[in-house]
Amino acid sequence: MKLSNFLLPLLPALSVAQTPSLYTDAKSGITFNTFINPANGFFFGLALPANGTGNTDFIATIGAKGTGWSGVSLGGGMLNKLLIAAWPNAQALVSSFRKTAQYGSPAVATGTFTQTPIANGTYVNSTHWTYTFLCSKCILADGTTFKTADTSASFGWAFNTAAPSSKANAASTVTKHTDEGQVKFDLALAKQANFTMWKTWAVPKVASKFMA
Ligand code: HEM
Ligand SMILES: *[C@@H]1O[C@H](CO)[C@@H](O)[C@H](O)[C@H]1NC(C)=O
Ligand SMILES: *[C@@H]1O[C@H](CO)[C@@H](O)[C@H](O)[C@H]1NC(C)=O
Ligand SMILES: *[C@@H]1O[C@H](CO)[C@@H](O)[C@H](O)[C@H]1NC(C)=O
Ligand SMILES: *[C@@H]1O[C@H](CO)[C@@H](O)[C@H](O)[C@H]1NC(C)=O
Repeated sequence: MKLSNFLLPLLPALSVAQTPSLYTDAKSGITFNTFINPANGFFFGLALPANGTGNTDFIATIGAKGTGWSGVSLGGGMLNKLLIAAWPNAQALVSSFRKTAQYGSPAVATGTFTQTPIANGTYVNSTHWTYTFLCSKCILADGTTFKTADTSASFGWAFNTAAPSSKANAASTVTKHTDEGQVKFDLALAKQANFTMWKTWAVPKVASKFMA
């Protein structure tokens, strides 16, 4: 058998390696079902309550290597879905909800949804930045996000190594992602009995660490 015949069947295994799996953030101790893109260090992790009945909240962690921006689509695609864009500004994390009907820098989105940081899961170290937050009233019934009853859902991810033009401003325009895609999450794997305890760790506006 030629070497090339031997290697080709191995290629699909590379994408399998990016299937979301359980990851515990050492600094917060919170466990997320997490997608990590080994090519650029982008990550997005999700934790949900064990009892999903009537739930509209989740805890998420988002980050990357370096000092650029990361984004996630709670509904899969970029257009007409609820997006979250975040980036570091020195030692602080900056984040906002976004939404757009056209390809281009998405406008800040307003609604009853809120983000509240979890302090020990929000940090910048020598290699990565990490933002961990409670997203309240973020699971919507209007088609812009995944639904509480879903057993699996596609999330969109977007990444740029470059920071936004005005990184102290959560409403800053952003330049287009250099890398983006969609990834399917098993939502059952995101359910955690400790969710109700972790949720109480979210404290509004730790000013030195978070700007929105
Ligand atoms: C100036 C800013 C932006 C521009 C011009 C832009 C443009 C585009 C375009 C044209 C695509 C289709 C794929 C392609 O042709 O490359 C796309 C996909 C995507 N974008 Fe953006 N984008 C911007 C910012 C953002 C932001 C801030 C987010 C998230 C917070 C985001 C999330 C996504 C996602 C998740 C996809 C993949 C969705 C899919 O497969 O349908 N984008 N974007
Ligand atoms: C993170 O902070 C919460 C309180 O805000 C604390 O209970 C928890 O033990 C901390 N996690 C770790 C790993 O120290
Ligand atoms: C799940 O939550 C719902 C709504 O709060 C409640 O009615 C139900 O009893 C809970 N189920 C369990 C097994 O705790
Ligand atoms: C920085 O934080 C990231 C994300 O939590 C972690 O994977 C990485 O190992 C940390 N790097 C260092 C040098 O501690
Ligand atoms: C739940 O939290 C407790 C108390 O912090 C901890 O001992 C336990 O390991 C956690 N379980 C999981 C599955 O995270």
